[in-house]
Amino acid sequence: MQTTDLIQVDQQHLVFHLHNDKISYLFRVIPKIGQLENYYYGPRIQQPSLDGHLNEREIRPGNNLLTGNYTTSLEAIRQEYPVFGTTDFRQGAYAIRYPDGDEITAFKYSSYQVTPGYPDLGELPHARYGDETATTLTITLRDENSPLTLQLHYTINTTNALIIRSSTFTNSPQSKATYQLTKALSANLDLPSADYDLIHLHGAWAKEMQIQRQPLMVGRMSIDSDRGASSHQHNPFIALAATNADEQQGQVYGAALLYSGNFLAQVEVDNYAVTRLSLGISPTQFTWQLTPGTSFQTPEVVLSCTTTGLNGMSHEFHDFYRRHLIDRRWADQPKPILINNWEATYFDFNETKLLQLATKAQAVGLDLFVLDDGWFGRRDSDNGSLGNWTVDRHKLPAGLPHLVTAIHQLGLKFGLWFEPEMISTDTPLFQAHPEWRLGHPDKNISHGRNQYVLDFSNPQVVTAIFEQMAAILRSTKIDYIKWDMNRYISEAFSPYLAAQQQGELYHRYIMGVYHLYGLLAQSFPELMIESCAGGGGRFDAGMLYYAPQAWASDDTDAIERLKIQYGASLGYPLQAISSHVSAVPNHQVGRVTPLQTRGDVAMFGTFGYELDITKLSEAELVQIKRQIAFVKQQQHLLLTGEFTRLVSPFTSNQPAWQVYDRQSGQGLIAAYQILSPANPPYRRLRLQGLVPEQAYQLSRIDAHYQLGQPLLVHGDELMNLGIIFSEDYSERPADYWDRPQPHDFASQLFALRAVADPQA
Ligand code: GLA
Repeated sequence: MQTTDLIQVDQQHLVFHLHNDKISYLFRVIPKIGQLENYYYGPRIQQPSLDGHLNEREIRPGNNLLTGNYTTSLEAIRQEYPVFGTTDFRQGAYAIRYPDGDEITAFKYSSYQVTPGYPDLGELPHARYGDETATTLTITLRDENSPLTLQLHYTINTTNALIIRSSTFTNSPQSKATYQLTKALSANLDLPSADYDLIHLHGAWAKEMQIQRQPLMVGRMSIDSDRGASSHQHNPFIALAATNADEQQGQVYGAALLYSGNFLAQVEVDNYAVTRLSLGISPTQFTWQLTPGTSFQTPEVVLSCTTTGLNGMSHEFHDFYRRHLIDRRWADQPKPILINNWEATYFDFNETKLLQLATKAQAVGLDLFVLDDGWFGRRDSDNGSLGNWTVDRHKLPAGLPHLVTAIHQLGLKFGLWFEPEMISTDTPLFQAHPEWRLGHPDKNISHGRNQYVLDFSNPQVVTAIFEQMAAILRSTKIDYIKWDMNRYISEAFSPYLAAQQQGELYHRYIMGVYHLYGLLAQSFPELMIESCAGGGGRFDAGMLYYAPQAWASDDTDAIERLKIQYGASLGYPLQAISSHVSAVPNHQVGRVTPLQTRGDVAMFGTFGYELDITKLSEAELVQIKRQIAFVKQQQHLLLTGEFTRLVSPFTSNQPAWQVYDRQSGQGLIAAYQILSPANPPYRRLRLQGLVPEQAYQLSRIDAHYQLGQPLLVHGDELMNLGIIFSEDYSERPADYWDRPQPHDFASQLFALRAVADPQA
């Protein structure tokens, strides 16, 4: 028996046990057939049986690998990384086309290796930091039918209820042939039950992150994106929740792909109630040429397993991304509170207008001024100039450095919008290099928002865009970039890639995007980048590796944002979710919501403003000033505390959530009321995750962000009985008529502070 702290290997039975205090992940090598069989993934088991007791084998009708042995049908075995067609008729995790045209693979176990830390996947987003607390198991399999090897990587750390998986396909340098990888998912998990609901986040432009929950069915359910980006439509994050699990309790598996391109997440339930969960790069139009001496590395999948409901799952993802994914330069750091001019001016601005906005922004205490779309080329509408990253002298005759200096002199940082992956046909770049546009030169190339996509699979294109961006970034001090991406790839064809490599385009494209992010990070280490794709069209864990926050949606309405942010929080920490206070009537839905509510929603994310601040009344400016001061004071808690969903806006008129930090004992609770009912029932809100015996001061926060008279309450009361909303008018009935009027779209914040128990 070989043991490290986190991985135990039983050499005799070839059983692998990855474990920490929270989870156990167990699989073995099946003797004779050399296949990997999953035994278990769930809460920690101290001493799992290794004597074969965990082998489940019925004799079932089926095709069998070994002559005379009726228990070697892979269809009846829960596997680690299955392939279709060699006795398993379910969906495989990978597929290889051989020079003869067949797809018959025979990978068998060869060896294993245990190494400290997280694997370094280069520019492909990957878990990182804290190598001393992580261990990786790599299983090597060899193909009997070719010189190919397959490595399966499993990483576990000491603290999180999750494992990280990926796989590497390698063609030997001695090989004489090229093999085509036509499918290469990152991980597969076969579970011995089908009593789960599939939960995923779907949407469209301006309505991202809608939660859908659906019982599994026998057969396949899948979500995917073949749009060249992870997409508004589906998110590369899914959960399988036990049918009785809810936000606060029950077993949940979470699966997230650290990747921003095309993906497939699939759940297949077979006729024996085995659930197969798989996730990885979408196989649609994917074919990778595995030439001699080369490897293909899949993106990583994070697979969590928790028993404390959906919140428990989210806590693991939030914690893990904060510590092991988001760049340390930005993770858990104070975030500048910004103002963005997009909804204030759209394309219609000049230096005077921008400086008026910035001056007011400075006066109310904002930190960062972001100049959005429209500053470059000749861009007065969305009809051109992308790829011409030179300042528009009609709008900014004194040039960009002049504006930036003025903004810096106000004491604000400066941010600038780019859409680096796009090209408009009216630009010098397009005229010089029409072949740098994605699409077949002899076939139709569709536009999206009047623009085309650059061929980021071509390294020259990435370099050329980097040089244009670098020239701007070197010309003056730019502190922040909003990197947008406003259309998907259709009619995928790269004029740069050879015919047989066209199936590599989508992956090479996204690797080009990552490369540009990497170049910018190297050359401008202080530059922070926010990702955006027409709102949340590329809101994924791959992007989070490079850009610590993402614009969650172009829908800035506070009430709609409740759902978007609630949905996003399932898989992503608050510090990744960019959210702004915008004008009323709201530009997307026309709704008029109170400024307080807009602030109380947006502060549960990375906070900012996106409205014409010069048009606000003095009273509104005073309120904004208080709002900003309050968020600054609470920001550390908001960005690093444990965020827990309490009541869902998808099912309730009175949604609520909380942030609580156990160490400091500080909490912030937000309760919203969408529509105000007449003669309402009493309302109680039960909190979560507090210390039962701990005494807390609970204070209502008023419209001026002042804390009211604190109540002394213990954790068990707040978690079981809850916060009481109604006032007691029994001794002062006359006051009832002077109470603040209830209204639609209302919000109420409460502050929580652990204190020494006066009775103790
Ligand atoms: C996208 C973004 C917006 C804004 C516009 C500018 O829609 O999501 O925030 O930047 O582009 O064109």
